[in-house]
Amino acid sequence: MLKKISINKDISTSKTMPSFYYLDDYYYKRSIDKIFKKSWQIITDKNSLKSRIYPFIFLKDSVNEPFILTYKDGDYKCLSNVCTHRGNLLYLDQSNSNKIFCNYHGRIFDLNGKFISCPGFDNVKNFPSKSDDLNQIKLKIWKNFIFNSLDPVFNIKGILDDIENRLGWYPFNNISYDKSNSNTYIIDAHWAIYCENYLEGFHVPFIHKGLNKDIELDTYSTEILNNGVLQYTISKLKKNALNIPNGYINSNKNIYAYYYWIFPNIMLNFYSWGLSINIIEPINKNKSRIRFLSYPIANHTQPTKIDSSLDAVEEEDQNVVCNVQQGIKSQFYNRGRYSVKHEKGIHHFHRLICKYIN
Ligand code: FES
Ligand SMILES: [Fe+2]
Repeated sequence: MLKKISINKDISTSKTMPSFYYLDDYYYKRSIDKIFKKSWQIITDKNSLKSRIYPFIFLKDSVNEPFILTYKDGDYKCLSNVCTHRGNLLYLDQSNSNKIFCNYHGRIFDLNGKFISCPGFDNVKNFPSKSDDLNQIKLKIWKNFIFNSLDPVFNIKGILDDIENRLGWYPFNNISYDKSNSNTYIIDAHWAIYCENYLEGFHVPFIHKGLNKDIELDTYSTEILNNGVLQYTISKLKKNALNIPNGYINSNKNIYAYYYWIFPNIMLNFYSWGLSINIIEPINKNKSRIRFLSYPIANHTQPTKIDSSLDAVEEEDQNVVCNVQQGIKSQFYNRGRYSVKHEKGIHHFHRLICKYIN
């Protein structure tokens, strides 16, 4: 049953997202179809890719679409991992083969997905045709990262340009994936509740006492981007700040971090030690997978085990997000109001959700 959700353009008069959005299966499924299927997702980074054929699942547990990323002569392709004969999954593990083989009945494709051969198909009319090739979908290569989208409706160029303007100097060539400081969490909360919490610094003095000691909270800024949000704040200590060279925005300021959010579920957090990527993957309407990928700059490591480190802050965030998940089920809660000063990132997020699902 469809109730149209409206979030007023004017934040000062608007109410927040109604609780049925998080609780009703219809809106969950609608968000997967109308938002996640159209979104850009990060597959991996170029340096972590060690083989010619790399199988992965686009948004496991929600969209659940199997693909392979292939690499040949500097060129990447994203192909369906489903054989065009009877639908066998082609690769479960990475492979260095220079052709794509189906182990069910021996069909062969090249690394661009073009059908090459198969045994046992003599006398089959109008065969092979275009539909015997593997489907190919859009890729976007940005810095070290490879993104894909099933149906790229959301334009993220404005966000990537903003990153270039502010962080063109950032040592992207010197960051690399650190498995030991990367983490995956499964939490009992709707994906959007997790994102909302990320999109405001309002809760920092209440929830993150450790982080609050490191930053000048009254400098916390939120900027609305096309299909994204940027937040940043000034560091109390110069040693924790980004080392922004002259000629770039805020070069005279000790910026603690630039927090970029790409609608609907990707967070790129630039710190002085490196880049932390958070990816929020829906599992069902009450459960989400939170992936934290750590990309330290060479000779730096992600700080851990101090009360402002990402692991401590993340635990504090997850606790409150799970409390909200319980709270919105109450028959006495429906929707609230936005703080004009602190919650314009969430207001923008809710307006984007409505734009795409209504
Ligand atoms: S399913 Fe691939 S060759 Fe039959
Ligand atoms: Fe937080």
